[in-house]
Amino acid sequence: MARHLITSAIPYINGIKHLGNLVGSQLPADLFARFQRARGHEVLFLCSTDEHGTPAELAAAKTGEPVADYCARMHKVQADIAQGFRLSFDHFGRSSSPQNQKLTQHLAGKLYEAGLIEEVTEKQVYSNADKRFLPDRYIEGTCPNCGYEKARGDQCENCTKQLDPTDLLDPRSAISGSTDLEVRETKHLFLRQSQMRDTLNKWIDSKTDWPVLTTSIARKWLNDGDGLQDRGITRDLDWGIPVKRGDEDWPGMEGKVFYVWFDAPIEYIACAAEWAEANGLDQSAWERWWRTEKGADDVRYTQFMGKDNVPFHTLSFPATLMGSGEDWKLVDYIKSFNYLNYDGGQFSTSQGRGVFMDQALDILPADYWRWWLLSHAPESSDAEFTWENFQSSVNKDLADVLGNFASRVTKFCRSKFGEVVPEGGELGERETALIDRLTTRVRAYEGHMEAMDVRKSAQELRAIWVEGNEYLQEAAPWATFKEAPETAAMQIRLALNLIRLYAVLSSPFIPDAAKTMQEAMQSSDTGWPEDLPTALATLAPGHAFTVPEVLFAKITDDQREDWQARFSGTRD
Ligand code: MF3
Ligand code: ZN
Repeated sequence: MARHLITSAIPYINGIKHLGNLVGSQLPADLFARFQRARGHEVLFLCSTDEHGTPAELAAAKTGEPVADYCARMHKVQADIAQGFRLSFDHFGRSSSPQNQKLTQHLAGKLYEAGLIEEVTEKQVYSNADKRFLPDRYIEGTCPNCGYEKARGDQCENCTKQLDPTDLLDPRSAISGSTDLEVRETKHLFLRQSQMRDTLNKWIDSKTDWPVLTTSIARKWLNDGDGLQDRGITRDLDWGIPVKRGDEDWPGMEGKVFYVWFDAPIEYIACAAEWAEANGLDQSAWERWWRTEKGADDVRYTQFMGKDNVPFHTLSFPATLMGSGEDWKLVDYIKSFNYLNYDGGQFSTSQGRGVFMDQALDILPADYWRWWLLSHAPESSDAEFTWENFQSSVNKDLADVLGNFASRVTKFCRSKFGEVVPEGGELGERETALIDRLTTRVRAYEGHMEAMDVRKSAQELRAIWVEGNEYLQEAAPWATFKEAPETAAMQIRLALNLIRLYAVLSSPFIPDAAKTMQEAMQSSDTGWPEDLPTALATLAPGHAFTVPEVLFAKITDDQREDWQARFSGTRD
């Protein structure tokens, strides 16, 4: 039995995520976690909300809640939606947890002892009206390059020129609009990532099996221009983890907090500690997943994320862990994703464009979305969601192929043999040939799932469903029944066993439908089919079953048009 530690990039607390976010991290991570559990391995699957930073503060200010209350409320909202999508986290934690605070301060202390932290005095824009330092992107003004009047302090959206806030003409606060700004000196901590460039380069070089999307982004940051830059890891904000080194105050850093991107990945570890606490387990229970000297050396750790997150996971977070000089488990494999677009444009949280997770569940159950999203995962390139494509995949793959198979087989059996698995004779040549083909396909499916080739896995699973339909079409038990009822009984016995097999194989993709099929077959045997002839003899003659409710309803043209219109604008 292998041990799999699996994490999904932790979603920002502010707002509900769209389907593009879902398919880029949480959903494929869930697919992999469910698959590894189904194969009998030990899995710890973790995700959390990413709660610090200016966007959270501003979102809370907008609703008028104290930021801690806002985060607590939104955490619950996100947890419920995750449950709605059947994301099977072992724990859904919070980066604002006491565990993360302690660990973040601890690691900062270790990095300090190792000489990897530098104190730098910088000049930054302070807004007197807002009584705060303004992060670059919260300073607005006129672009010196193109004259665009709403350029941000980090970049002009209009001409894409990278800017420094002091470049802007007529600068003002994007929060209050105030022009009462001044430049003040402030001290910050920098993580000396540049010191670790060789170590990181060697480490990335050793990851020969990583997807090109992952390593090419890492190499670009390591070797482009001046190479890996030292990185500011503190901010002048109220909301965040107070800057300390271990339990000690950090002279000169009073009132400052760690930068959200410093503490967020550390939450992957803290989340395991939260999981242990929530389950009444002690420290060793989570350390055996995270500390190589306490058992984590035989853990396989896989991370899932969108491509924009890759630099932080290939460079900054490993630099934090390696730099600490402690025995932290490093990631073994990073699966990264391109973007999913929405109907001719981009999904956009700020503009409210596309379908958001709560809205998706309002119109259809999780499995419909899971299937479409995973079978169209943006792996080798960006992908696009269109309502036509969604309708056609659901109707063909789920309703016509899988749903129809389960329904035809069970209904036919009920009408001719009753609601029990019929006896029939020995399997014939056609059946043996089918089982051979299925063996090949199931082994291929396992290979793709193991490699996290999400689209290929979906294709293979669909091909496995199609095998059943084609078999049924050729064997035609309804015709056979007239001449040779014994043979028809054998065919149906096999077909009922196929339904149970489909439940097991499909459960990582469509867990609810899998459960419905499993329950209809009245079988608690969810063991992975290591040997197909055995797996397909699980339901013995005389075993009772029921006809399942409709597994998947077809999406009508009216529904499609209605949704298309409803989601064509932006959400407020
Ligand atoms: N909140 C970030 C995002 O949604 C992801 C953070 S992942 C972690 O892009 F590494 F910081 F945990
Ligand atoms: Zn410009």
